[in-house]
Amino acid sequence: MNQLLFVKSSVFGDGGQSSQLADRFIERWQSHYSQSDLVVRDLISQPIAHFDMETITALSTDASEQTAEQKNRVALSDQLIAEVKQADAILIAAPMYNFAVPSQLKAWFDQVARNGVTFKYTENGPVGLLEDKPVYILATRGGQYHDAGLDYQVPWLKLILGFVGLHNVKVVLAEGLNMSDAEKSIQSAQQEIDSIQLS
Ligand SMILES: Cc1cc2nc3c(=O)[nH]c(=O)nc-3n(C[C@H](O)[C@H](O)[C@H](O)COP(=O)(O)O)c2cc1C
Repeated sequence: MNQLLFVKSSVFGDGGQSSQLADRFIERWQSHYSQSDLVVRDLISQPIAHFDMETITALSTDASEQTAEQKNRVALSDQLIAEVKQADAILIAAPMYNFAVPSQLKAWFDQVARNGVTFKYTENGPVGLLEDKPVYILATRGGQYHDAGLDYQVPWLKLILGFVGLHNVKVVLAEGLNMSDAEKSIQSAQQEIDSIQLS
């Protein structure tokens, strides 16, 4: 079974440009593998609350002493991490909002990057604990940033994924989507999706 975890974060839902590119990728995935499974983590229809002190306390309290509310908070983080671990590959549809990723996607990473579970600190610095697997990022943005040193979306995604042990990252960029050559940019991203090598 080839399980794909799709992490969806456009506020425009299915109509979002990143969501539409993701649909194309998912079609490819499903036609490539005779047996496949899709798990959708929709961060817009089911938003994850921002990380706060209550959550930090819950995660650092021994299971035998947790309140019902703390258990719920730990269970959510456990569930999100389990989805990542169980997947054979991860697809992240990531628009650029205000130069970075949507806050809903940041909230997801705040739960997934967990000390002692998905990363740990050693004498030689942090080490990611997740088993490496392909991560496909479909990054959309209204303007043109590539190579301009102003991209806090894709470099950050690569940084946090690598931090938890996910280094096998393929990025498809669709830039300038609020500019005149948007259609050309979408077509080029579609072609890139169609030519991704699936194992
Ligand atoms: C709240 C918001 C903030 C945005 N900020 C930026 C930005 O900082 N830079 C940019 O190039 N485009 C920005 N855009 C445009 C989006 O990146 C662009 O429309 C992208 O295709 C949206 O992807 P989506 O349709 O999957 O949500 C912003 C759009 C929204 C709704």
